[in-house]
Amino acid sequence: MKAINIGMLGAGTVGTGVAKILFENKEIIRQRVGVELNLRRVADIDIERDRGVPFEDGVLTTDAQSVVADPEIDIVLEMIGGDTIAKELILQALENGKPVVTANKALLAVHGTTIFKAAARNGVDLAFEASVGGCMPIIKTLRESLVGNRIKSMAGILNGTCNYIFTKITEQGIAFKDALSDAKEKGYAEADPTLDIEGIDTAHKLAILTSLAYGTEVNLNDIYIEGISSITPLDIEYAAQFGYKIKLLAISKDLGHSVEARVHPTMIPFKNPLSNVSGTLNAITVSGDAVGDIMLYGHGAGMMPTASAVIGDTVDIARNLICGSAGRIPLLSYQEDEIRNIPVLSIDEIETQYYFRLFVLDRPKVLSMISGVLGDHLISIKSVHQKGRKIDGSVPIVMMTHTAKESNVKKAVSEIDQLDVVSDKTVLIRIEDENEEE
Ligand code: HSE
Repeated sequence: MKAINIGMLGAGTVGTGVAKILFENKEIIRQRVGVELNLRRVADIDIERDRGVPFEDGVLTTDAQSVVADPEIDIVLEMIGGDTIAKELILQALENGKPVVTANKALLAVHGTTIFKAAARNGVDLAFEASVGGCMPIIKTLRESLVGNRIKSMAGILNGTCNYIFTKITEQGIAFKDALSDAKEKGYAEADPTLDIEGIDTAHKLAILTSLAYGTEVNLNDIYIEGISSITPLDIEYAAQFGYKIKLLAISKDLGHSVEARVHPTMIPFKNPLSNVSGTLNAITVSGDAVGDIMLYGHGAGMMPTASAVIGDTVDIARNLICGSAGRIPLLSYQEDEIRNIPVLSIDEIETQYYFRLFVLDRPKVLSMISGVLGDHLISIKSVHQKGRKIDGSVPIVMMTHTAKESNVKKAVSEIDQLDVVSDKTVLIRIEDENEEE
């Protein structure tokens, strides 16, 4: 083999980064692989724009089908994203016997089974490191490095846009919508930023990681998803006063006969290293029975960090092609016939600690009424604080609970919100603080 020919579908932000690395680091990649990786065809709807990449004549085309059908192409890189034409093109490439690299989390989270089966049936590799956490090698870590471990849990900040918004509000007091516009301008947000804000992008990534960690197919609809739009600067400030930061966390736990998989704003203590992950950075902690806790940290989005992960995958596949091997690493880490359907625990069944923020009338017995409702639902209060001055005749009360069951908490909050002395809907934020409990 003298060279390996790459066909790329999509030359947007990540695709352009991939092309740049293939040109700028051509020689160092050749030294590591043994042959050149040659960017032979690139398909995009816009082939006129100057991307600052020296494509040779005839490389750019608007005909994506011709790239996946081209017998000269050894590896296809799908950098289109979304769930429109990308799925068909990936499937066609796989059916044509071409290994595929994709960064398409939305597609894998929803149609992963179809795509994985097509790769296995055709005996070709499919790699998707860039689909989760940009440059962080979390897929390789789960599928290869930690393969000897029973994974106990994972907790990750997997959406740079949400993390950027929280950081801007916390550090600079910038309004939510201004922080979001900023993230959009910087190119981190999805084309439809509700995917970021409502936690769906994080859930796509969590579905992929949960499958890999526990050898289960995860239905996206089984993941509890709550976005960040209900979090106010007031709660961010109160959280800080109690020694916590609020982050949009993806949480996954192995409970034996079921798994937890949930995405929601979460209060984590300052001593948790995830609390120091700021701006658009991503991070994930993985807890394994042998390894203990490990953490990966890096740029979860952006042109060059994401392209770095794509090139890593491309080189893995190129090395396999050189050795005449494919399918050496099972796509979901477990052998295909070992993949199970482990139930995802309903959010109502989870047990964790909670932060409540209420607005109540400043009158005698108000606290006893609220604590009475909590007691009726077996919720034990860890601390209560009346914060600050009256706002529109009401005072803010912040409560932290010991570990309680979510269904009980929801019932209690619904009863509390109906009390005459409560003047606004209670804000509820889950806390992950294992070391602080009982
Ligand atoms: N919109 C995503 C983010 C891009 O903000 O993290 C990377 O998946």
